[in-house]
Amino acid sequence: RANRKVAVLGASGGIGQPMSLLLKQSPLISHLSLFDIVHTPGVAADLSHIETRAKVTGHTGNDELGAALDGCEVVVIPAGVPRKPGMTRDDLFNTNASIVQTLAEGCAKHCPEAMICIISNPVNSTVPITSEVFKKAGVYDPKKIFGVTTLDIVRSNTFIAEGKGLDVSKTSCPVVGGHSGITIVPLISQCSPKVSYPQDELEKLTNRIQNAGTEVVNAKAGAGSATLSMAYAGARFACSLLEALNGKEGVIECGFVKSDVTKATYFSTPLLLGPKGLERNLGLGEVSDYERKIIEEALPELMKNIKKGEDFVKSR
Ligand code: APR
Repeated sequence: RANRKVAVLGASGGIGQPMSLLLKQSPLISHLSLFDIVHTPGVAADLSHIETRAKVTGHTGNDELGAALDGCEVVVIPAGVPRKPGMTRDDLFNTNASIVQTLAEGCAKHCPEAMICIISNPVNSTVPITSEVFKKAGVYDPKKIFGVTTLDIVRSNTFIAEGKGLDVSKTSCPVVGGHSGITIVPLISQCSPKVSYPQDELEKLTNRIQNAGTEVVNAKAGAGSATLSMAYAGARFACSLLEALNGKEGVIECGFVKSDVTKATYFSTPLLLGPKGLERNLGLGEVSDYERKIIEEALPELMKNIKKGEDFVKSR
């Protein structure tokens, strides 16, 4: 079995802890490295008692970032502050942009060849930030930097299967675009198995998927945003990458990457993953007129979010 070190940056948080628990269960990981600015010794000690393969180490504060990252092949980043009711993901920009920049600088220095999976919002901007940091450091490989949009796919699958009475484990609906509000575009016409809706229901469902994060923010009433479902989604994406790294063929996940599929320079589409990260961008496939229209509507907002991330790094 391959020895693979995986790091979680922001491991003590609402997403970081349950995601680390899920990753601890993966037989594909030999070393799980947990980094945060607080509480990592406790989280690491706790997880280290679990009788699964991965060795767990905890690292606290920027002085220990190098030790956390040395030798990593996959890094998952959920560090940052979450949304409160009334906030959009973009409202998190000011705080999370500099957190992600610092952590990305650490990755560029200590594990420049690792696959980087960004969860910290706004993903539409934090992925361009990470790319700009890697460019500045001269180690940029666009095939290895991913924004994790998996929760949008997970939600689509769940809502469609629930509504249609399908087996959710066999329901799969791609979601493209970005990871915020109208930039989230579910391609329900490509759902497997095929499903159909009257136009008004289709628009309602699309809207629910786009705003599903806000459902959780409101239900948590000030205590934060989705953590458990995001942890599941983050672990699913990281494990898919690890399987592809280990040579499994045909691994496909949607992810937000550098892209020339639309005029937005980063865009999420289904991706074929391989040992070097993104092997082939599978693009949009055949989309309906309605999907084409909402993609067009998403692009200006998405391009604005991307530019905001790029400008943030360039101005520093
Ligand atoms: N380096 C490492 N960890 C950090 C840093 C930093 N510079 N700054 C904050 N953190 C840690 C916090 O200490 C905390 O443990 O990030 C963790 C964030 O956890 P929560 O506040 O519980 O937030 P969470 O709900 O996990 O969301 C984190 O993911 O989905 C996104 O929008 C969400 O951007 C938010 C992020």
